[in-house]
Order: sequence, then C-alpha cells, then structure tokens
Amino acid sequence: MKIEPFALERWLTRHELHVKYDIAESGILPLTMADLLAFEPEDRRAETLDRLLTLPLGYSEAVGTLHLRTLLAETYRNCDPDNVLVTTGAIEANFLLFNVLLDAGDHVIAPYPAYQQLYSVPQALGCHVSRWEIRPETGFRYDVADLERLLTPQTRLIVVNTPHNPTGAMLSPEDLRRVYALAESVGAYVLCDEAYRWLTIPGGDIFAPPAFDLGPLGISVGTLSKPFGLPGLRLGWMVAPKEIVAKCWSMRDYVSLSPGKLNDALGVLAITHKDKIIARNQAIIEANLAAANRWVDNHAGLLSWTPPRGGLLALLRYNLDIPSLELSDKLAEEYSVMLAPGSAFGYEGHLRIGIGQNPSVFQQGLDATTRCFAELR
Ligand SMILES: Cc1ncc(COP(=O)(O)O)c(C=O)c1O
Repeated sequence: MKIEPFALERWLTRHELHVKYDIAESGILPLTMADLLAFEPEDRRAETLDRLLTLPLGYSEAVGTLHLRTLLAETYRNCDPDNVLVTTGAIEANFLLFNVLLDAGDHVIAPYPAYQQLYSVPQALGCHVSRWEIRPETGFRYDVADLERLLTPQTRLIVVNTPHNPTGAMLSPEDLRRVYALAESVGAYVLCDEAYRWLTIPGGDIFAPPAFDLGPLGISVGTLSKPFGLPGLRLGWMVAPKEIVAKCWSMRDYVSLSPGKLNDALGVLAITHKDKIIARNQAIIEANLAAANRWVDNHAGLLSWTPPRGGLLALLRYNLDIPSLELSDKLAEEYSVMLAPGSAFGYEGHLRIGIGQNPSVFQQGLDATTRCFAELR
C-alpha cells in the first residue's frame, strides 16, 4: 500500500519532545500507574498491585482478555464480548476495519477536515472518497443534508467521528440515526470513530448513542487514549458484528498479533473506574475551557473560535498573514508552545487547540502564545 505521510504526526514528532507548553494535545492529561491504582478501594490496592507485579508477561489473548472485552461490551447495547476486538489504539481498529470493509473502487464518505487516517487510508486502498465538509460558516456543525447529497448506491462506508477531531463538532442522537438510515438505504456500513466518547463539555451537546447500538450496520471504535488519559497503553477497540470482528482479527495476526498483556490488565482497571476518571477529566476540561474562552475574548479581532461541543478539541481562527505551519513552527521553536497547524487537517488560517492539558501548563501556553502574537502584530 502506498500512502501519503500523516501530516499531523510528522509535525508532532518534530516538536513534542522539546516544547514546554503542549496545548495542541489531543487527549486529556495522562494518568500514571500510581493514579490508576489510587482509584482502587484502599483495602484492595496492595492485592491489585501484587497481581500486576506477578502477572506473567507472556503473549496475551489475541482478541483481548475476556475480562476486558466483557467490561467493554457492557458499555454498548446487546453487545457480546465476541463483538469486541481489543486493538493497538483506535488507530489500529480503524486501519483493520478499512482494510476488511473496503475494496479498490468503492465509494466512501468521510468527514473533512478530519483526523487524516479517516480519509487517507480509504484513498490509499483505491477508494473514491467524498468529503463530508464540516464548515466554519455553519459554526462547524455536521449537516446531514450535505451527506445525503454525497450518498450514492455505490457508497460502501460512511465514516463519522463524533465528538470530532479537530473541530469539536458533534452529531446529535437524531442526526446519527439519520446517518444510519441513509447508510441502510444503500446497504453501507457506518464506522463511527468514538475516540472522544465520554468527554462531555460543560454546556455542550448530548452524546449520540454508539453507532453499534443502532443496528447491524453500525460499527463503533473506542480507545483508552483520549477519555482515560492513557495513550501510552496503546489500547483501543472495535465493536462490530461478529463476522467483521473475525475478519479483522485474522488480518491483525499479520500486524500486531495481540494487545500487550500488562496494558490489557491496566485497561481492566481503567474501565472499572471509568466514572471516577471521567469526573477527574471534567474538572480539567472545565478549567481550561473557561481559560480559553477568556483568552479568545481578550484577542477579539485577532482570534475567534467555536468552543468544542464535546471532546476537547477546536480550531482557532487567526487573523494574521502567516501560513499555519509557519506560525505553529514559530510558536514551537521560539515560544515553546505546541498549537497544531490547521494545514495538517487541510484547514489553513487555523490552529488546533486541545483543552485537556494540565490547567497551569495550559494557561502558560496561552500566555506564551499571546507574546508571539504581539511580536507578529
Ligand atoms: C479521531 C481519532 N481517531 C483515532 C485516534 C487514534 O487514537 P489511539 O491513540 O487510540 O490510536 C485519534 C488520535 O488522535 C483521533 O483523534
């Protein structure tokens, strides 16, 4: 497979080890193993730690342990552990699904701008990809009427991502049902990248149910990376009809074989304490959202944004005569701030901001960006 470079990842790896204020971060402030253990009731901590320390680090169950798949299945409707395949992050789940569901020549609809994998992999497989645009003129909202115009009898797959990276747009429960009904009318699958599931915003929109819950053409992809602050575990999953899970598993034999055994065990701990972890995230998101709103207000005329309606990402529009990549490089190299270039998502004149960072680092990042803007003006 010939595939174009993943622009965002290439840019991130140039700067992420050198900057002090990463406010482009697409996830929530990471947890440590000690944090995870502290969510256990006090009288169980020693036993849990001992279980982790004495876990034989052999190969793990290829599909993910039954324990982890059972806990994940409980977060969907009518879902059996055999509907779940634990993967190396959501990125592997998406990659396997595209390869299993699509053939060269198929028609695919994917959001744009987007996390590049969602359209570049189908393109690399030789599919015709139509862009379902999420436009600033509509306040970065999904418009299902636009999707309807793109649908053809040849459409094999509709890809959605809600909450959306990079705009923070959300599909409402009614809109996701309309998307599903449109897919059903042509026999296409709906692959919903739900990497930002459970990351609600104060005053934001209600979450649509997972796509899997809508019927046999609905496929959900999830991860511990974003909502749990555990991207280093590289643990994601797909929830899909069993025959699709079986085909993805079979392809996965050639790619990563199985999840890491320790990661799977830590994943069990994270899902077990989901509610406490989500509450911890809410406090971070709330503080940073307030700081970002104040900051944008203080730069009226220079900056504008539509705050995220879910998840933790948004695009900042800037009114300066400088391409986004040049501006992002300048911020990283001279001001030690990471704000991702809109160009990495196909969107010039914008920077992507993430509101999941440690609130004190987040505020310092905003202050350093203010100094950079002062210099440029
Ligand atoms: C929409 C979306 N899907 C998938 C991923 C990959 O996440 P993971 O770390 O679970 O592989 C990301 C990461 O930024 C993302 O934003």
